[in-house]
Amino acid sequence: MKERGFCIWLTGLPSAGKTTIAKELTPRLQAMGRYTELLDGDEIRKGLSSDLGFDRKAREMHAARVTYVAKVLARNGVIPIVALISPYRSSRAKARSEIGSFVEVYVSTPLELCEQRDVKGLYKKARAGEIKEMTGVDDPYEPPEHPEVLVDTKSSTPAQSADKILAELHRLGWLPAA
Ligand SMILES: Nc1ncnc2c1ncn2[C@@H]1O[C@H](COP(=O)(O)OP(=O)(O)OP(=O)(O)O)[C@@H](O)[C@H]1O
Ligand SMILES: [Mg+2]
Repeated sequence: MKERGFCIWLTGLPSAGKTTIAKELTPRLQAMGRYTELLDGDEIRKGLSSDLGFDRKAREMHAARVTYVAKVLARNGVIPIVALISPYRSSRAKARSEIGSFVEVYVSTPLELCEQRDVKGLYKKARAGEIKEMTGVDDPYEPPEHPEVLVDTKSSTPAQSADKILAELHRLGWLPAA
């Protein structure tokens, strides 16, 4: 019997922890015998979205392309794990309606902590005026109002966040009762 696919969509500020948590989720789901695919915003910008910049239209297009890929995976029983800043509520709402089987996870990390982590050094560059359109600095981030799951990376480790997401997937019926 084909298992039901669904999309786990991680949204949050740069350096919030989306990629880190996505990588914690993957082995947990695979251990349950599920197929997963990590759709990481940065990786996709190297290929499918390599023509896109960071203005609103480009960010919307980036999210729309990721949405399409996630949709075709999910409808074939795969669990796409999307790690994408996806700063606009409207883009995430479109993803939700297009994909249908959709679990929005807000990786909630205060801006100050993201700036301390600054994995790619982009906050520093943005504060120095060397780059523009940096989410959280001079570009907006619209936090989810009703995410299925909120993980607080200030108080939880990546493993604890992944476990919380898993527990919610069971509770919501996307995964069979544990
Ligand atoms: N509790 C935590 N949860 C998640 N990440 C954490 C936590 N504590 C520390 N970190 C660190 O914070 C950093 C988060 O970086 P990560 O690349 O996952 O962010 P991101 O949300 O994918 O950012 P970007 O949008 O720039 O790709 C990593 O270096 C990770 O090790
Ligand atoms: Mg990332």
